[in-house]
Order: sequence, then C-alpha cells, then structure tokens
Amino acid sequence: MKKKPTNDPNRRRDPVAVFDSGVGGLSVLPELVRRMPREDFVFFGDAARAPYGERTTEEVRCLADDAVTRLIADGAKAVVIACNTATSAAAGYLRKKYPDVPIIGMEPALKPAAEAGERPRVLVMATPLTIREEKLRALSDKLRDKAEFVFVPCHGLVEAVERGEVDGDGVLSLVTEILAPHLPGADSIVLGCTHYAHVRDVIAEVAGPDVLIFDGAAGTARETERRLREADLLTDSEDKGGITLLSSSRDPDYSRIMEKLLAGQMEK
Ligand code: DGL
Repeated sequence: MKKKPTNDPNRRRDPVAVFDSGVGGLSVLPELVRRMPREDFVFFGDAARAPYGERTTEEVRCLADDAVTRLIADGAKAVVIACNTATSAAAGYLRKKYPDVPIIGMEPALKPAAEAGERPRVLVMATPLTIREEKLRALSDKLRDKAEFVFVPCHGLVEAVERGEVDGDGVLSLVTEILAPHLPGADSIVLGCTHYAHVRDVIAEVAGPDVLIFDGAAGTARETERRLREADLLTDSEDKGGITLLSSSRDPDYSRIMEKLLAGQMEK
C-alpha cells in the first residue's frame, strides 16, 4: 500500500484496517465483511505481544500506537480496533493523534444485555485490563439501575484461543473454572473480549440454555459503516473486496490458526 493524501478521491478504495492483539479480531471481521462486502480489509494481529489484557495501560497504548501508526502509514483509510482491551487503553489517544482517520473501537454489549430482562444479573467476561479501565466502569455505572453487572476476569482464556484451542476438554474445563462460581442466578453473559467469541459454543455449553450471550461485533460493524459513510469513504468499487491477514507472530503455524478461526467465524 502507498500513502496518499487524505483528500485523494481514490482513498475510497483503500483498505479498512482491523487490528487486535491476536486472533480475537477475527470474530469481528466477518460482521464487517457481511455488512460491507465490497470493502478491502487488512487484518493485523499483534500475536507476538499478546495477551494485551495482562499488560499495563501504558504498554497497551504504546503497542496499539505502533500498530495503528503502521497501518495508517501503509494506507488504511480507517482503523477498526477489534479489541476491547486496546480500545479501553488507546482509542481516545489515537483519535486525538489521527483526527482525520475514522478510528472505531469495541463497545461491550452491556446495554442490550441490560435491556433484555427485568433488572438482569449480567456476567461481563473481559480481560483484567478492560475490567480495570474507566470505559467499562463508566458504561456499567450508567446502566446501574437497569441491571446488576458482575465482572469476570478470564485469565488464560486468550492464551488458549491464541493456540487455536476453541473446543475440547482443556478449554471446556478452563471456561467451567472461570464461569461456574458466578453462574447461579445469572441471566446473561457479555463477551467483553473479542477472543471469547471464538469459544462462544463452549461458553454456551457451560452456561446452559437459559443464559443469553451478547457480543459487540455487529454494533462495531454498524458503527464502522456509519463512520465511513459520514466521511464519504465507503468504497465505490463494484467488486467483492479482499481480505489480507497479517500478524507479528513468529510461529510458523499461526497463519493456519488464523485461517481456521476466520473460517469458523465466517460460517456463523
Ligand atoms: N481481544 C482482546 C480484547 O477484546 C484482548 C486479548 C488480549 O488480552 O490480548 O479485549
């Protein structure tokens, strides 16, 4: 990709970058493709530095800054931060740094979960950093009268998904260990980390059929389309767009893991 000035009319055909700490964002990418099939997407997973959720806010801000700066320099017309952790730590900072580039973050689906029942008890599964950050606290405070939120930090789950373990006994017992203490009386679960959508079926199996599960992928795709339209950046191409998968991983197997997880999500 070659850098073009922001007022170049051909910017409309530049790709939308989608960024995550690893494979988590591959659960958001299919929603973006379904909504905007003619756009080109470049996905970057910073797998060499995952998990972000166990790092400090400053570290994640620096890592997200490096990745987003490179994606924009390489010609992205917009950036989707398909990572709740990096959104909490860096979205505000990056929007100030790049005011001319639409930067869209993840919004954990607390609102739809809160509105889906009579003051429901909602388990919010997220990384330790997301749970510590102001963004999630502010959102849950706003909805305090509508629902009871229980924050569930999920140590080890991102690492399992990064290894491509999205089913089987290992991940089933890890999810059970994380969720079981909080399940009595729970009405719904919010997937507050994009990696967890890859183990949605396991989470559903552990939670049982009466517990609703919400994630933020569709909302992020909707918001991305809205922001591109507002900036007059939606593609004018008539052809089906392409997907490029990139990562910082040094593991020779990682491309295969990315392709497998993306294919699994595309089928849903
Ligand atoms: N996928 C990221 C999120 O949505 C975080 C994963 C990580 O800890 O690296 O929060």
